[in-house]
Amino acid sequence: MRVVWAVTLLWMLLLVCRLGAVRTGPPEEATFYYGTFPPGFSWGVGSSAYQTEGAWDLDGKGPSIWDAFTHGRKGRVLGDDTADVACDSYYKVQEDLELLRELRVSHYGFSLSWPRLLPTGIRAEQVNQKGVQFYSEVLDALVKSNITPIVTLHHWDLPQLLQVRYGGWQNASMVTYFDDYANLCFEAFGDRVKHWVTFSDPRAIAENGYETGRHAPGLKLRGTGLYKAAHHIIKAHAKAWHSYNRKWRHKQQGLVGISLNCHWGEPVDTSNPKDIEAAERYLQFCLGWFADPVYTGDYPQVMKDNIGRKSEEQGLEVSRLPAFSLQEKSHVKGTADFLGVGHFTTRYITERSYPARQGPSYQNDRDLLELIDPNWPDLGSSWLYSVPWGFRRLLHFAQTQYGNPPIYVTENGASQKFHCTQLCDEWRIQYLKGYINEMLKAIKDGANIKGYTSWSLLDKFEWEKGYSDRYGFYYVEFNDRNKPRYPKASAEYYKKIIAANGFPSPREVEGWHLKALETCSINNQMLAVEPLLSHMQLVTEVTVPTVCALGVLIAAVLLALLLRRQG
Ligand SMILES: *[C@@H]1O[C@H](CO)[C@@H](O)[C@H](O)[C@H]1NC(C)=O
Repeated sequence: MRVVWAVTLLWMLLLVCRLGAVRTGPPEEATFYYGTFPPGFSWGVGSSAYQTEGAWDLDGKGPSIWDAFTHGRKGRVLGDDTADVACDSYYKVQEDLELLRELRVSHYGFSLSWPRLLPTGIRAEQVNQKGVQFYSEVLDALVKSNITPIVTLHHWDLPQLLQVRYGGWQNASMVTYFDDYANLCFEAFGDRVKHWVTFSDPRAIAENGYETGRHAPGLKLRGTGLYKAAHHIIKAHAKAWHSYNRKWRHKQQGLVGISLNCHWGEPVDTSNPKDIEAAERYLQFCLGWFADPVYTGDYPQVMKDNIGRKSEEQGLEVSRLPAFSLQEKSHVKGTADFLGVGHFTTRYITERSYPARQGPSYQNDRDLLELIDPNWPDLGSSWLYSVPWGFRRLLHFAQTQYGNPPIYVTENGASQKFHCTQLCDEWRIQYLKGYINEMLKAIKDGANIKGYTSWSLLDKFEWEKGYSDRYGFYYVEFNDRNKPRYPKASAEYYKKIIAANGFPSPREVEGWHLKALETCSINNQMLAVEPLLSHMQLVTEVTVPTVCALGVLIAAVLLALLLRRQG
């Protein structure tokens, strides 16, 4: 055992050395590009229903798989946190709208809660009118403020009953249930929503929900569950797109796309064909897995080859990767009016072949190893390193692989580095500046990028990380019942980028930085007195009634004594 460790360690060291030798950092990032985005470029912020809304069982909402997951066995979520209340956004629509106006965004990306609209998940069984009314009011308020809604139909919170009855995305029947749900949304909200995202980060649903079990529904169906789930998600996406195309497009004139999250994968050694192929596999198993069917009608060849070969070696008669029939291929091909791209960080990739006898898994199917450069600045989340140049490369990859589609960046951002109440998030400003600048370069390269959604509006429930990772432009004091929001310095900085539509000149951009840091120190002081304020609230809530009750009691006793003396 010790020998194995020693060898592994030595090998890792060698890799790091190789990294150091081969990589001196891509030169193109060294120069900051001053310039502005195309006119009409859409700036926004994003959020998702389960992470922010709260009100998990109120006004007729049914439970989702995430409610069941967080309420279930301990130890699945850091601190055993739930999103029962989260940011309480269900009750703070006006307050959050005020923040959006403050940022002067042109759009807001958010998701609808399927079980809030359909408590059992099935339209034919029950529609929750209060849910319909809630989102209708949100949309009215956005439209009134001239903020374009970009609406995701499904961001992970599947109705729990669909999981219990059918096994969730394992079951082909989900395709129809999702389509019914999508049609309800097109019908109820399509007059105001012109940008629909069917799924946000479906790879995470498949991999974390059905392979590693780190996310709801927490299944570990290694090497099979995730491919099946993804297969049904792709079909569900395609069916909903066709429904829109056939029944709603002529009336509503909107767009329907899908949002795919992926790190950039850079070969460790760019002169080694094996590493180059491994990095290509990494991207195809990530982005291509969903984008290829939608754009070309089938899975990437390398996925079919690898998974097929390993399935055979494992003694299986058919590949663990499901196949599309000819009819299905033409049905799923061409079903994205735009490509949503979510991106946060980068990995170095090197070849590593895993023997088939290790058993089926997504990890083994890819035959590669992911590495990070220890010099990359690390941010709040354990997996998140700031590597702006990777963003440009991923956008370029999407541009060239799928025929230069219209792209909306649907998620990009960084979480808080320190677990303290820090509003002066300078490192986050650096991330924002670097990544947005690389996006600008990608546009200069020819990518057809229409909009950018920074992740996210608020600190919120961060899935298995509970409330420990803070992605918001606005800090949320979760310990306070009122969940007050405070702007971080990065909010101030983003406002400037939006107002200038990019980075006009060095002098101006330098000024933003200083200004942002000035405002945040004032806000920090506000936040510092917050515990005191919430304590005072506690006093008024608990002590005051007690004092009153005591007063009434004393008065009653005195009165009784007085009456007795008189009597
Ligand atoms: C799908 O759901 C139906 C109805 O509950 C069930 O009979 C079938 O076994 C399910 N299929 C899978 C793969 O779970």
